[in-house]
Amino acid sequence: MNEHVTVNDAAPVKAVPTLPDAQTVTSVKHWTDRLFSFRVSRPQSLRFRSGEFVMIGLMGENGRPLLRAYSIASPSWDEELEFYSIKVQDGPLTSRLQHIQPGDEIILRPKPVGTLVHDALLPGKRLYFFATGTGIAPFASLIRDPETYENYDEVILTHTCREVAELEYGRQLVESLRDDPLIGELVGDKLKYYPTTTREESPKMGRITELLKSGQVFEDLGIPPLNPETDRAMVCGSLGLNNDIKEILEAAGLREGANSDPKEYVVEKAFVG
Ligand SMILES: Cc1cc2nc3c(=O)[nH]c(=O)nc-3n(C[C@H](O)[C@H](O)[C@H](O)COP(=O)(O)OP(=O)(O)OC[C@H]3O[C@@H](n4cnc5c(N)ncnc54)[C@H](O)[C@@H]3O)c2cc1C
Ligand SMILES: NC(=O)c1ccc[n+]([C@@H]2O[C@H](COP(=O)([O-])OP(=O)(O)OC[C@H]3O[C@@H](n4cnc5c(N)ncnc54)[C@H](OP(=O)(O)O)[C@@H]3O)[C@@H](O)[C@H]2O)c1
Repeated sequence: MNEHVTVNDAAPVKAVPTLPDAQTVTSVKHWTDRLFSFRVSRPQSLRFRSGEFVMIGLMGENGRPLLRAYSIASPSWDEELEFYSIKVQDGPLTSRLQHIQPGDEIILRPKPVGTLVHDALLPGKRLYFFATGTGIAPFASLIRDPETYENYDEVILTHTCREVAELEYGRQLVESLRDDPLIGELVGDKLKYYPTTTREESPKMGRITELLKSGQVFEDLGIPPLNPETDRAMVCGSLGLNNDIKEILEAAGLREGANSDPKEYVVEKAFVG
């Protein structure tokens, strides 16, 4: 009989569950009761093109990952990854995700995809980013990407939200770019920011679609109307916004492109529903 009992012979220790594809939360900032942003560690092997999205989430109560699509809001050169998120009070993921703290882990599937990328557009002079709500997330990445300013003479970011506080994440980001040691000089005066609200008084009121149709945007920014020869666009908002902007872009002669077939504009949904 073997009397030597080693640690290995002891009753098996219950395995501590570890998250698959875990990344660590490094910071969290709450912007309103419906919006927050957070940063996480970046998998060393993760390469992505600014504007793409990944699947992120938490472990579900059934022991299976609960994942949702999220645009990466940080640029591809950043050491960490940033996300900008809605808080849906009864949303399966964000009812829980909104409570993350630095040091917590989230799941991040390192397979970036998406259509809001430079490769899906033909060369042009002026690039429009049209966003509503959290649809600004992919553009938060693209406006920090040197390629954006190398490829275009002028970059116009429009952001429409219901209320003024919902613009703050984008406003602070744009403001910080001018003094950014890495790309501040490249950005220079090229980036024009056009924030509007629809349900709270602000310096510029109205849906971007109406402001485009009336020509107000062009008047305010001192630029010519949409022109398929020079202008390119990326669109990210609700299904309604996306469809309405598409109609305006098509009427101006711009055609929808894709990774495999670059044209004058590309569109992605900011959320389903
Ligand atoms: C390509 C793509 C990229 C996305 N990127 C982001 C992102 O960067 N940030 C982000 O917050 N969400 C993003 N989403 C939405 C995200 O995938 C989830 O829907 C969101 O996190 C809510 O998850 P949930 O499980 O709490 O609720 P869900 O069951 O997914 O959604 C419940 C309802 O909440 C509403 N809703 C969901 N997301 C939003 C939103 N972002 N803004 C306004 N209303 C919403 C819709 O009406 C939806 O039916 C993206 C979706 C797609 C398809
Ligand atoms: N934001 C809030 O305070 C709030 C609060 C509770 C619940 N919710 C729910 O959350 C969901 C998402 O709300 P959200 O405010 O993040 O996104 P949203 O409803 O898509 O609105 C974001 C912005 O886009 C504008 N917009 C919507 N459809 C448009 C279109 N077809 N063309 C041009 N502009 C358009 C809106 O203008 P309009 O204002 O003119 O629609 C608003 O300024 C909705 O189902 C909403 O009911 C929102």
